[in-house]
Amino acid sequence: MNRTTTDAIENLVLHPTRVTPADRERLFSQRPLTLWFTGLSGAGKSTLAFALEKLLVDSGRPAFVLDGDNVRHGLCKGLSFSTEDRSENIRRIAEVARLMNEAGLIAIVACISPCRLQREQAREIIGDERFLEIYLNTPLSVCEGLDPKGLYRKARAGLIPDFTGVSATYEAPEAPALTLDASEKSISVCLGEILDKVEGWGAARPGSSSL
Ligand code: ADX
Repeated sequence: MNRTTTDAIENLVLHPTRVTPADRERLFSQRPLTLWFTGLSGAGKSTLAFALEKLLVDSGRPAFVLDGDNVRHGLCKGLSFSTEDRSENIRRIAEVARLMNEAGLIAIVACISPCRLQREQAREIIGDERFLEIYLNTPLSVCEGLDPKGLYRKARAGLIPDFTGVSATYEAPEAPALTLDASEKSISVCLGEILDKVEGWGAARPGSSSL
């Protein structure tokens, strides 16, 4: 940390909010959490994340997707795919997810987040009790075979450096809350399994008997 950054933090005072987490739980009738989807490009993270968001919102539960491709157009614009920049990308996403949780929303993160350390840092930022890691372990051969964005083809041709699964490593989670292979299960089956986890995590409506 450089001197300017240290001085700046020393001169900041945290302002407390007068709205309690319980107030927000009452307002939104839910306990917030972050669902963190990790896996290769094309593994199904975004598809599931947006389907889940729609399902939750349609059933009256405020939720929002933080998608890697999307946030790289704004919040994380200009960051590369070096390990250092990916860590910064993930740190920013995790900080926003934490704010969303504090505001009472369910945050749904879909980003490759290829390193265990990056995901552990995200867990620390968000808080273990609110962090639900979901591993999309759709095999590389399937992701590459489908290649909906044509990126694997470009990466194999040497046109994209540090491409996860091709020229950059992906470290699988050791103990995810849930593992899903999107090539073996339908979206609705995957969604069912995710919703079971959400309910079991205590994110269902407070006082609900389905907890
Ligand atoms: S992360 O590694 O920093 O978590 P993130 O999820 O934000 O990645 O972005 C991944 C998306 O960026 C991929 O789905 C793909 O569309 C695109 N992309 C572009 N270049 C790369 C690359 N070198 N490696 C992986 N994905 C890339």
